[in-house]
Amino acid sequence: MRITVIGTGYLGATHAACMAELGFEVLGLDIDPLRVESLSEGLLPFHEPGLPELLRKHVKSGRLRFTTSYEEVGAWGDVHFIGVGTPQRAGEGAADMTFVDAATISLARNITKNALIVGKSTVPVGTTRRLKALVRDNKRPDVSVNLAWNPEFLREGFAVVDTLTPDRLVIGVESPEDELTLREVYARALGRDVPLIVTDFETAELVKVAANAFLATKISFINAFSEITEVIGGDIGTLADAIGLDARIGRRFLNAGIGFGGGCLPKDIRALQARAAELGLERSMRFLDEMDEINLRRRERAVDLSRVMLGSLSHSKIAILGVAFKPNSDDVRDSPALDIANSLFEEGAEVTVYDPAGNVNASKRSPQHHYVTSMEDAVKSADLILVLTEWDEFKALTPEGLAAQTETRKIIDGRNILQTRVWEDSGWSLAALGHRYPPEHATEEPLGEQLQLSSGPAA
Ligand code: UDX
Repeated sequence: MRITVIGTGYLGATHAACMAELGFEVLGLDIDPLRVESLSEGLLPFHEPGLPELLRKHVKSGRLRFTTSYEEVGAWGDVHFIGVGTPQRAGEGAADMTFVDAATISLARNITKNALIVGKSTVPVGTTRRLKALVRDNKRPDVSVNLAWNPEFLREGFAVVDTLTPDRLVIGVESPEDELTLREVYARALGRDVPLIVTDFETAELVKVAANAFLATKISFINAFSEITEVIGGDIGTLADAIGLDARIGRRFLNAGIGFGGGCLPKDIRALQARAAELGLERSMRFLDEMDEINLRRRERAVDLSRVMLGSLSHSKIAILGVAFKPNSDDVRDSPALDIANSLFEEGAEVTVYDPAGNVNASKRSPQHHYVTSMEDAVKSADLILVLTEWDEFKALTPEGLAAQTETRKIIDGRNILQTRVWEDSGWSLAALGHRYPPEHATEEPLGEQLQLSSGPAA
């Protein structure tokens, strides 16, 4: 079986390399010739642990190739996976389907033997049925081209592991033959008892957006409680531990902090709301509006805390440790950390950024900041330090170690990775998201008054 993968971003490049690892011959397609050139040389244009090794291994073995030609792909492949992006449409919440539609039409026009197209991108419910009509109208009359949907749940930073050993496989198919084809593709995982859900197109599409909506809700749920503990006192981490011990709730994705970002969760919950509204079901997904707002308020809270700790942000020097949307990634798409850095800059702070992998991408989006290649360079002349991504390097910080690199004793923990008490006992002033600041006495004053906002926009 020959497999092609259309679109070689995070999803497509990972899928292509993993399919080669499973023993298939794979041809990846991208419309960007530079990307194709770089992948063909075994060079991955983004950070993903374990993937460069797989890419090089299979480019070298000849099992994995890349092209820009739909003609080549259409004549060669038996199963064509679509992994192109579905970004948020400019100025609205809905998903931009331009790339998925274009890929489907180009494939359909160029397929010269019976084949199966399998969508992996995250799409609005109803897409597969719509694409089926596009395929029918664009394919050659002498070939049969079927469609299936097989959502991808991989996490950045764990993309290879999640693809090779997923916790479940979901396929939306219309015929037993297509199910068999996909069972063959995923034979290795299925042999290891990975659960397989075989369902219709709509359910398959919804599984992905529902999972992301649930995860986003879980994070915003604990962050909503952060807003309470920040006013009245209490420990948000202990609260998460305690409710997380209820097996029905579970502890994962209850880490309070500056909230979720990245290329998926934020855009996917907005696209889901937009799709529900199109279906006349705006109210059903309205709670996601609230989740989005809670999430964005966390970023404001980090800026408010910075203002309070410094008196004024104007002419202050701020070190940002971590700018990727999460650790083990160089991705800064909708990164809460970068958003906070930008807000601080807008209020007059001079911002120095250090991230073990995200500097290059961040500097392309926000060139106004200073980017440095070591933590020491970031903090040495800072008035305030913000830890915004939980890289191991930052988790390992100690009050004494950091004090040796800088004069300041002011730090904000945006990810709840530092032991508040230990830092305070060592003479640091530490503010953590989800904790009272200043920590002393609990009051019932509302957030804004408690923070004694000194300047800049109101909370
Ligand atoms: C996510 C989904 O997990 C994945 O299944 C889907 O396919 C794509 O979207 P990813 O974007 O890689 O994957 O990030 P994820 O690990 O889910 O983290 C998302 C964001 O939530 C990050 O900004 C992270 O820092 C934040 N987060 C996560 C929290 O703020 N608290 C938590 O407890 C967990």
